[in-house]
Amino acid sequence: MSRNHWDIAQIRSEFPTLTRQVRGKPLVYLDNAASTLKPRPVIDRMTRYYENEVSNVHRGAHYLAEQGTIAYEAAREQIARFVNAASPAEIVFTRGTTESVNVVAQTYGRVNFKAGDEIILSELEHHSNIVPWQMIAEEKGCRIRVIPITDTGEMDFNAYLQLLGPKTKMVAISWCSNALGTVTDISRYIRAAHDVGAKVFIDAAQAVQHLKTDVQALDCDFLAFSGHKIYGPYGIGVLYGKADLLEAMPPYQGGGSMIADVTFDKTTYALAPQKFEAGTPAISGAIGLGSAIEYVGSLGLENIERHEQMLLAKATEALRAIPGLRILGEAPKKAAILSFVFDGVHPSDIGSLIDHEGIAIRTGHHCTQPLMRRLGVPATARASFAVYNSVEDVEALQSALVKVKEFF
Ligand code: ALA
Repeated sequence: MSRNHWDIAQIRSEFPTLTRQVRGKPLVYLDNAASTLKPRPVIDRMTRYYENEVSNVHRGAHYLAEQGTIAYEAAREQIARFVNAASPAEIVFTRGTTESVNVVAQTYGRVNFKAGDEIILSELEHHSNIVPWQMIAEEKGCRIRVIPITDTGEMDFNAYLQLLGPKTKMVAISWCSNALGTVTDISRYIRAAHDVGAKVFIDAAQAVQHLKTDVQALDCDFLAFSGHKIYGPYGIGVLYGKADLLEAMPPYQGGGSMIADVTFDKTTYALAPQKFEAGTPAISGAIGLGSAIEYVGSLGLENIERHEQMLLAKATEALRAIPGLRILGEAPKKAAILSFVFDGVHPSDIGSLIDHEGIAIRTGHHCTQPLMRRLGVPATARASFAVYNSVEDVEALQSALVKVKEFF
């Protein structure tokens, strides 16, 4: 599938969920940072797998097992191309971003961190890029240091440079904030970390669906993302790791498929990425993710960015015009994520009221409690946009919020 121009009606028709009504109103889906809807080609590809191709992979000599293995490994190759990894062996399938962070913390961290080492995170991080590091830090006696943010919701680069030093072993930061949308210029963070000999883990859960990813150009050591936020299935995600690092890391879980040889005295392990994929993997998930990546490729990330930035600009302008509404996060570079609060109205009330108009947004702390504390709010309302959102969706959000304002 290739496209000559951005046809929003055509794109919307490819997402079956958009045809449904919610509370008697046409669905306006603006909770894309939590999970995107799934396009027909991804649904069809997974159905085809379940109808015709079911088999386990990397085992069995029969036809279906062979075809399943080919499709599963083809998805890995597709993802390697998508992030421009040097080799498919650098792509590990996980359950999602959260598991990818845990894999690195519990394997790389377990053998490389020691008492007194420092792990740098940022105030923008999601709990999944905080808690796994705290767990290994506690086990090893490491110190967590935190890059503060500015009032516009950006990491403070100068403060980061002050935190870096010979004790820094890992810098784990998000490329794009799930709560504020801030896009960080991670290249300079990566270079500065490497200058002091630290490794860098990039949480790209909110980035790969909006921005072109090139792990070789970025030179990050690890990068993670989830399938379900990039139009793919649940239960599948990716950990990219530089080949030499993955090879030197111990396995995460033990089981079938991750071994070279097993005796009761000793087990030797397979090479990466198999070493990190114990047990039967999420085969349909990987194949579905491959199809989602293909779908994104058919739209083109540059076109996606242009469309979403247009929506972000319109939504920002529309929401700014509503008295009493305050947007949180005013970084000059943002993905199409808009967090806001209303004077005197709890975000969860905003969410429930506009849900009655068929509009889906997320409200709460967005799994970023430290960030909420820094911003001095318990929660925000968050609208997040994707390829199928239209200017009409922005208008529907604006008029629903005006009604909320009137109601209170
Ligand atoms: N991390 C997801 C979000 O931001 C669930 O909503």
